Amino acid sequence: MSQSPASAELIVKDLTIRFGGLTAVEGMTFEVNRGEVLSLIGPNGAGKTSAFNAITGYIQANGGSMTYQGTLLNGLKPNQIAELGLVRTFQKTSVFMGQTVLDNVLHGLHLVSKQRPLAIIFGLPSVAREEMELAAEAHRILGFVGLSGRADWAASSLPYGELRLLEVAIALAAKPKLLLLDEPVSGMNPSETASFMKILAEIRKLDITVLLVEHDMKMVMGVSDRVVCLNQGKIIANGSPAEIQGNPEVIRAYLGERYVRAQG
Ligand SMILES: Nc1ncnc2c1ncn2[C@@H]1O[C@H](COP(=O)(O)OP(=O)(O)O)[C@@H](O)[C@H]1O
Ligand SMILES: [Mg+2]
Repeated sequence: MSQSPASAELIVKDLTIRFGGLTAVEGMTFEVNRGEVLSLIGPNGAGKTSAFNAITGYIQANGGSMTYQGTLLNGLKPNQIAELGLVRTFQKTSVFMGQTVLDNVLHGLHLVSKQRPLAIIFGLPSVAREEMELAAEAHRILGFVGLSGRADWAASSLPYGELRLLEVAIALAAKPKLLLLDEPVSGMNPSETASFMKILAEIRKLDITVLLVEHDMKMVMGVSDRVVCLNQGKIIANGSPAEIQGNPEVIRAYLGERYVRAQG
């Protein structure tokens, strides 16, 4: 058996996912190394979200294994996987629309808070102290994603781009070691996308590994250390952004035949 590099944080081996007769992902093998930004790209329906769902426990894999820092993820529930440090955002929103922006982040923080249930029931002073600390932490996270001025807004009143930033804030509240982002800038305008790229650069500095599913090629090429390209459930390329950009099979699959003809 070949030895994985010591820096591999997540190892996905021969992952296969089926929906009835449809094979959405087939024999997918790749690794995410500690501290890198790895982008998973590919045309619509390539299997990117399905792979995310399997890695984070939202669907069961039909074959293969997923190992995070030596722990087998197969069969674990989403909350167990999140506790290991794999935290995701959704392609569709996970925000509680009826709550304020701050409460959404506080809710995320409470999920990982160490406070003992009995202390909470009896309202011990340590609870009040912890509440203040959590509120400060929530404000800090909101500041980090550029939503400081929105803390008291109802989540439902946020413009779309800011709602996507709130999702990232909620994910950060869960203290990720590996953050999985599924099309974080979809629906954002160019200036929102540019701010998001800056936030992503800041996230890296926090020593958080990032697995990104993204359509926006400019963003992918700008932020990724490595890119894995999926087409019809199979990996067709794995390399640096420059290698991927120049790979004819990727260009055919992802950018379309027309692009190849125009270049060639
Ligand atoms: N819950 C599901 N039930 C049946 N088919 C699904 C389901 N989720 C995804 N698929 C199918 O699996 C394939 C891969 O989808 P998906 O993983 O969402 O691709 P991507 O995120 O790359 O666009 C598609 O053909 C899609 O229609
Ligand atoms: Mg998808």
